[in-house]
Amino acid sequence: MSIVPRKISRHPNAATPTYWFDGKGFESLFFNAVSSTFPEGERFFVLSVRNFAEQIQDEGLKIDVARFMRQEGQHSREHDAHMRILDTQGFGMLRQVSRFDRLLMRWTAKFLPRYALAVTTAVEHVTALAAVALLENEAKYLDPMHEDYRLMWHWHAVEEIEHKAVTFDVFEEAVGSYTLRFIAALYVAVIFPLILFIRHLFLLAKEGLLFDVAGWRRGMSFLLGREGFLTKIAVGYSRFFRRNFNPANTDDSRYVVEFEERYGMHFSHLPAA
Ligand SMILES: [Fe+2]
Ligand SMILES: [Fe+2]
Repeated sequence: MSIVPRKISRHPNAATPTYWFDGKGFESLFFNAVSSTFPEGERFFVLSVRNFAEQIQDEGLKIDVARFMRQEGQHSREHDAHMRILDTQGFGMLRQVSRFDRLLMRWTAKFLPRYALAVTTAVEHVTALAAVALLENEAKYLDPMHEDYRLMWHWHAVEEIEHKAVTFDVFEEAVGSYTLRFIAALYVAVIFPLILFIRHLFLLAKEGLLFDVAGWRRGMSFLLGREGFLTKIAVGYSRFFRRNFNPANTDDSRYVVEFEERYGMHFSHLPAA
């Protein structure tokens, strides 16, 4: 699958409602929590890969890495802009939490580069699974989004699918340790849900929704029910522990083709580097 960095033309703005997911607090705040992890998280992915850029021999992979960095840089910028809107809506606490995560991630990338790359590879598998979960049931996840947000999430999901194999390929070429991949996968399986949960709780508390029983009941089914968003990710994530796992073995390219056909008017292609 070729990797095509894009720039979108529609963004969330100050006039976009706070409860932008079908007017529902729990779900809107959950996706705000997810969005708030992207700016620092994706800068960490780029740092982790850059540590090994010089060791990559494969010419095709070098090009993919440059395009991956371009895509993630653009994603960080969009979600940074979303963070600024969240600031104006009174959710500035997300920045405080991100500051701590940033320190931890910068330290890991600097002093444990092989582990940082393994963690990045595991999280990239999560983002690719989340992308497919969103796109395979648009009626449930994308249609309820306010139109100012829908393009951002759809575009980000498509580009995560496009570059889902890049960090894995870099890891296999530069590090190639199954044990390290396994340990990193366990770490991500614990830390990532925890980070999301804490952020989501902060946001619910700020909105006075911490004890909204109806919201929790609906939200738990939305996230952790049989067809729940997190349930789907958890099921797919288990594949990452297999020794012969390779993200390229699953073909999700139809989602990219559909996006290009439907939203061609709403984005432009960027130069790769
Ligand atoms: Fe991304
Ligand atoms: Fe990514």
